[in-house]
Amino acid sequence: MIDLHLSTSILFLLLPITFFFLLFKSVKPARKPGPKSYPLIGSLFSLLQNRHRFIQWTADIVNNTPTKTVTIHLPLGRVRVITANPAVVRHVLKTSLHLYPKGARARNTLFDLLGDGILNVDGDDWRFQRQVSLREFNTKSLRHFVEHVVDDELNGRLLPLLSTSAAVIDLQNVLQRFAFDNICKIAFGYDPACLTPSMPHDIFATAFDEAVVISTGRMRANLPLIWKLKRLLNVGSEKRLRNAVAVVREFAENITKEKIRELEKNSSLGSVDLLSRFLTSGHSDEKFIADIVISFILAGRDTTSAALTWFFWLLHKNPRIESEILKEIQEKSKKETSIYEGVKDMVYTHASLCESMRLYPPVAIDAKQAAADEVLPDGTFVRKGYPVTYHVYAMGRSEELWGADWAEFRPERWLEKDVSSGRWVFKPRDGYEYPVFQAGPRVCLGKEMAFLQMKRVVAGVLRRFKVVPAVDDGVQPVYVAYFTAVMEGGFPVRIVERGDNPMRVDP
Ligand code: HEM
Repeated sequence: MIDLHLSTSILFLLLPITFFFLLFKSVKPARKPGPKSYPLIGSLFSLLQNRHRFIQWTADIVNNTPTKTVTIHLPLGRVRVITANPAVVRHVLKTSLHLYPKGARARNTLFDLLGDGILNVDGDDWRFQRQVSLREFNTKSLRHFVEHVVDDELNGRLLPLLSTSAAVIDLQNVLQRFAFDNICKIAFGYDPACLTPSMPHDIFATAFDEAVVISTGRMRANLPLIWKLKRLLNVGSEKRLRNAVAVVREFAENITKEKIRELEKNSSLGSVDLLSRFLTSGHSDEKFIADIVISFILAGRDTTSAALTWFFWLLHKNPRIESEILKEIQEKSKKETSIYEGVKDMVYTHASLCESMRLYPPVAIDAKQAAADEVLPDGTFVRKGYPVTYHVYAMGRSEELWGADWAEFRPERWLEKDVSSGRWVFKPRDGYEYPVFQAGPRVCLGKEMAFLQMKRVVAGVLRRFKVVPAVDDGVQPVYVAYFTAVMEGGFPVRIVERGDNPMRVDP
């Protein structure tokens, strides 16, 4: 209630000023690309009108702008630059990376949740965490991950759960639980057993989701003053955030304490998982280690689950692609290779996942903050302190980048046929045209791990089951993006056994 009062009062303060400007027409609407902007309030009207479809709205704007970069004016003189231009993305993520850190704005806004974790730091703090983590993503660990961690979770939990689900289940929720168990096992050597038949109510997950939603709200706030005031008074959403963060922190600190005890008993465990590596790398500050844990949960839990959720939805809409994938699964199951090699070799499935993430990227937008005044490669002026956001969702829907059939789910755009063997070969795209995993020195650390996990899940699930969305005909799920994107309201599905005919695609 207090929440609402505060927001309304501030808006009411702004209204007379706006009225004054509109009435006397002393202000000419901006002629530049982007939404109409007025002094003092900037594009507040358009921002409020489109607040529930911020990603889709801004995607339309950038894709309809010749340079593919727009400057959006926020209230009180604040500005946000949004781009879908690959040359600008390359500039920001690679060529001039030093001029585009995450910056103080994001850091302060997200500090309550992420602290000094890798997703919220620049400079030496980032370099240190990146270097220690990199050692955990070598071929040996990846092989162990897919052959033991993912496979155990798949065969021991996910498939048994699906085989006994007679009624409608929320597949998005199931996949989040799956990914959460996985990331905790591989990164912290801890099994939260979230995906068990009783589907236990998970206090941590509820708190984590709430903290993410409210923190994203802070990042997108038209008037940051409001949330800062609410934080000061500990009311409304900020009170809820404080409570949620306390639950998340308690969880992360318990994992850390448990690991410290384990290491005290057996110091040779030092390089067994990521958390042990950090604890034996000279950093024993529990708060800092808990920050790292939280960043890894955020990076690893909701990304692969979002990608798979939309993937299964798209497969349902495209039975031809589902049968191509089934063919590939059958072929691979006949070959006598290790699980790791087999999964790596699933080229058509790999292309289908890339294609699905092009249309529904798990991370829709990502912002940096300019550290100096400069002009971007497309001529856009950027002042020191401006946030510069690259729009992954818009880039995946750009006709210039993907052609007139960009709206089509067509994995073949990622493939070419090898003339001698007649087999598909994967044709990667430039990382700055497809920054789904970011690109450059801060490219996602878990990219390969994510693909292995997703391909193994796709093979395991599709071989036995058909996933049938339990939504009315013509209903299109809604893509909503917080730090990571979700299918609004979950993904209700029925699981149908394929029975004797594994190639069966009809329900
Ligand atoms: C489909 C799955 C995934 C997608 C689309 C994805 C995407 C991304 C993106 C866009 C970023 C940049 C975020 C930023 O700087 O604000 C990122 C960073 C990162 N990701 Fe992923 N990610 C995925 C899965 C994973 C997994 C499974 C892990 C961990 C095991 C992981 C670990 C990380 C880490 C540690 C970073 C920070 C890298 C750095 O700042 O140097 N990601 N990811």
